[in-house]
Amino acid sequence: MDSGLKSDQAEYEELFEIEGEASAGGGLIEDPWPAWTAALAKGAVLEGSLAECMGLPPEMNGGGLYDPARTYYSVFSFAAVSEVFTRKDDFWSDVYNDMGTSQEFGETILSLDGISHRRYRDVLQPFFQPPVAETWWREKVIDPMVTELVESIREDESIDINTRFFARLPLHTMTGGFGLSHQEGLELRRHMQAGLKAKTMEDRLTSREQTSNVLKGAILEKRENPSDDLISHLAHAEITDDDGTERKLTHEEITNHCRLIVFAGGETTWRQMGNALFALLNHPEQLAEVIADRSLLAQAVLESVRWNPDPTFPRKVKRDTVLAGVELPEGAHLHLCLAAANHDPSRWDNPEVFDIHRPFKRSVAFAAGAHSCLGQHVARQEIIAALSALFDNFPNIRWDSSKPTAKITGSIVQRGPGPLHVLLH
Ligand code: HEM
Repeated sequence: MDSGLKSDQAEYEELFEIEGEASAGGGLIEDPWPAWTAALAKGAVLEGSLAECMGLPPEMNGGGLYDPARTYYSVFSFAAVSEVFTRKDDFWSDVYNDMGTSQEFGETILSLDGISHRRYRDVLQPFFQPPVAETWWREKVIDPMVTELVESIREDESIDINTRFFARLPLHTMTGGFGLSHQEGLELRRHMQAGLKAKTMEDRLTSREQTSNVLKGAILEKRENPSDDLISHLAHAEITDDDGTERKLTHEEITNHCRLIVFAGGETTWRQMGNALFALLNHPEQLAEVIADRSLLAQAVLESVRWNPDPTFPRKVKRDTVLAGVELPEGAHLHLCLAAANHDPSRWDNPEVFDIHRPFKRSVAFAAGAHSCLGQHVARQEIIAALSALFDNFPNIRWDSSKPTAKITGSIVQRGPGPLHVLLH
């Protein structure tokens, strides 16, 4: 039977395509690193949007990150970016309401602050703690899928591993964790991509409705007949309102958070899985070490997300304040350049070098503070499981030099590898 995990290659190519998405938004850029390095050398915090600070036209601030009516500052140093993430009385995530993200996903932990944020985060967090990532997610969801995906490529000589394997695992890990089928997972992704590409709010709301419809049956079913999955957990969890009333999450609250998790968990992990293999294949000595000693993989994954993170996230200034000596007015939007922060030479020696042996220091690839990435431990387990299985089964994995050279591509907001053509045997 076609489960949707192994087939539908053309659809995966269409639904997971970084360069086309960035070009359509006018934001494709070959190499943003020199401009990020130059901006950081100029100052920890600069006035202007990220594109402006990089000397690019404003339309290159993709992903709803720019509105000419607003005031922008961009933040580049590791210390200043970390402060923004952790000074919760001065900076807030309400920025996602201004950008229209909450209209697309509904109200979620991403855009809430303070006690309202904590209320939902406390319900979700237990499912994403390290021991649960290492056992429940690995055993129930990730490892069986990795095995299936390895079998699906075993006889191939040359493949684009990014769409044949990496695009599939994170999406279906999330939807599998919800208790949905692979086909339902693909359907969710399809509607969400349509929403992201939509030009009008009406079309965005239609896509939001369609994702709700995919989730609706599952939520109703799991309210009646709970089983061992995330939707069942959410359908029966209790939260406490401001007035002390205890109640179950509403249908809409569950739907909104599932939508966010599919997007946040499917998208970034896919890019970072490709990024980790890209980094290792381009550093054959380190690849050989990891293949010989799999205990190095965990640090290789943390180094690859430091080296090439999802580059940009937003925040809003909650009240007049000062950051790294720069006065910031209430209401200004901040573009946090995680890429520049993760290459801050005051924290890392030779930060542009991918080195799995560098002494570990936490980066901001998974943010920090109250909004630090909910799924980071699951994401790391997915990447470790996928790469470990590839190295076990295809220890000669290497670039296919007869195909176009792999590269990291995209915009200044979202970057990741395009096709990753590898020889398996
Ligand atoms: C390597 C993969 C990943 C990276 C690099 C990453 C990165 C991030 C970053 C930087 C943030 C902060 C966003 C902000 O506050 O503006 C974030 C938040 C979040 N991430 Fe991830 N993420 C990854 C995988 C995942 C996965 C697998 C999930 C699945 C649950 C997930 C769910 C979330 C959620 C729900 C938030 C919002 C948390 C909150 O606001 O309290 N992420 N992630």
